[in-house]
Amino acid sequence: MKKTALGDLNFAYTDEGNGDVLLLLHGFPLNQSMWKHQIAALTQTHRVIAPDLRGHGQTEVTEGTVTMAEMAGDVRGLLDHLEVNTPVSVGGLSMGGYVAWEFWSQFPMRVAKLLLFDTRAVADTEIVARAREMMAAQVVAVGASMASESMLPKLVSEATKNQQAAVVKELENMILATDPQAIAATQRGMAQRRDMTELLPSIDVPTLVVCGSEDVISPPEEMESFANLIPNAQFVQIENAGHLAPLEQPELVNKAVRSFLAN
Ligand code: MLT
Repeated sequence: MKKTALGDLNFAYTDEGNGDVLLLLHGFPLNQSMWKHQIAALTQTHRVIAPDLRGHGQTEVTEGTVTMAEMAGDVRGLLDHLEVNTPVSVGGLSMGGYVAWEFWSQFPMRVAKLLLFDTRAVADTEIVARAREMMAAQVVAVGASMASESMLPKLVSEATKNQQAAVVKELENMILATDPQAIAATQRGMAQRRDMTELLPSIDVPTLVVCGSEDVISPPEEMESFANLIPNAQFVQIENAGHLAPLEQPELVNKAVRSFLAN
């Protein structure tokens, strides 16, 4: 894990391997270690850069509201710091996907390919946005355990729950290690994110859309529908995985990613 100052933010990231850059943006409220299997496998052919997004993992916390646009700006700052000036493949899971959309929309010249894992293109409904505000207030009052109790049951497939207790524990530990102020700030930021649906037909880079067959947060039907709106997209469903397909079924996900990046 490396660290650098980006403006006034102390920013942590993994940067390993050689070759074309693959940027991996983690989900909420997790950290870059959720990509450990992809980092291990894909650094054989790529330079993999996986930041801890603002407030997560070992990156400094900002209180208040942290928007997806702000996170995308941090990521651009990191690439500038690393002197990565050519277009990169940008992958994001769930919240990382929201940041990837923003990154593509703000800095299209920096994107060679897009990889969207277990994520959504639509904005929050008013009800969901309000629930996020409530969760933000509760997490600050009660602690990160509140986020882990409400999220954990929805994150993984039945197969993962029954056969991979270590994965569930790992996710729980990641959530519990996240600062409650960061969880709250990110919830507020996600509640404000924009709807990308109308922009999907203008995505002009090859795109891979990956979804766990049992993802209840960003279900396969929804992800396949938005993949169909992107001109050059392929949709891959990962069996026996929920919302964290890259951690639950790493070999299947890595196979899909390898084949997408090779073409
Ligand atoms: C995530 O996994 O990043 C979250 O489910 C995103 C969200 O709450 O919309």
